[in-house]
Amino acid sequence: SQNIYILGIESSCDDTSASILLNNKVLSNVVASQKIHEEYGGVVPELASRAHQQNIVPVVHQAIKKAGITKDMLHAIAFTRGPGLMGSLLVGTSFAKSLAFGLNIPLIDVNHMQAHILAHFIDESGFNKPPFPFLAMTISGGHTQIVKVTNYFEMEVIGETLDDAVGEAFDKSGKILGLGYPAGPEIDKRAQLGNPKAFQFTKPKVDGLNFSFSGLKTGILYFIQKEVKANPNFISERLNDICASIQYTIIGILIDKLKLASKHTGINHIAIGGGVSANSGIREALKKGEQKFGWTTYVPKFEYTTDNAAMIAIVGYLKFLEHDFADQNISASARLKI
Ligand code: KG4
Ligand code: ZN
Repeated sequence: SQNIYILGIESSCDDTSASILLNNKVLSNVVASQKIHEEYGGVVPELASRAHQQNIVPVVHQAIKKAGITKDMLHAIAFTRGPGLMGSLLVGTSFAKSLAFGLNIPLIDVNHMQAHILAHFIDESGFNKPPFPFLAMTISGGHTQIVKVTNYFEMEVIGETLDDAVGEAFDKSGKILGLGYPAGPEIDKRAQLGNPKAFQFTKPKVDGLNFSFSGLKTGILYFIQKEVKANPNFISERLNDICASIQYTIIGILIDKLKLASKHTGINHIAIGGGVSANSGIREALKKGEQKFGWTTYVPKFEYTTDNAAMIAIVGYLKFLEHDFADQNISASARLKI
């Protein structure tokens, strides 16, 4: 069998990333995270595209160097076509097109949401690949979806958020508590020191497999405002308990929907992805699900679960094997669906 080198490029949000794969193995995965958004408490699209433009050439250059190859060894270039921020996507798309044109090699368009799922097929020792069919739950600052995966490119979204993503639920709750952005990791750390049942928050009532987090955020805001009025030191005195209770509520919502999805589809193989899959509570809950509901769960290596180009390159590799290439006139698509 042939040795295929793929360059993957990811620029959908606030991470500029480039990765080289040799078949399904990662040779390099370089990520430049944009710190600039921290002081704004969220991603500023205009600043993101500007930073991508500055980072893209050095990041691709480093990925090629770290992989120990030269660019004329590449077989194809895979890039994120969408979904994401249009200005950010345009940078990666234009760069990938130009380089593929210059090197006279195929261009491969990749759906970012499919890539989060297919990241599970990167060959990595100690990590199992899920067997088809499986359920994939993608949870991050930008996405919350449950997808039924029948084959590499046969996927169906069976549930998704109607408003905020789950990572936003963490980040916006953190903002109410005066924590820095993104607040997910700190809420997680503090949650481990607090009592998850200290405070009760109402779970949203959403039919079927869809999610909603904006009501929860408002509920938390009103609760905190009320408590702070009674005791101005409420947040600092009870921060760990508040974080534990918020996290407990959010994870309860995710697990309830996974249980329902597993019941509806009869599928017990459950793979997760996205930045929130780093959360200690969700990991624990999934482990419990293995004992309680007979699930087998799959969590990829952290590096491949947050936004990264290795996941784009693995999709590139799988599409390369199918000779599924893009035209040079393809355009970025901010609302691309699975
Ligand atoms: O996948 P990611 O790096 O970027 C995208 O949003 O696509 O995910 C970032 C999100 C942020 O909302 C962050 O707060 C959340 O993942 N996050 C966590 C944890 N680590 C990252 N949320 C809860 N617990 C964590 N340990
Ligand atoms: Zn993502």
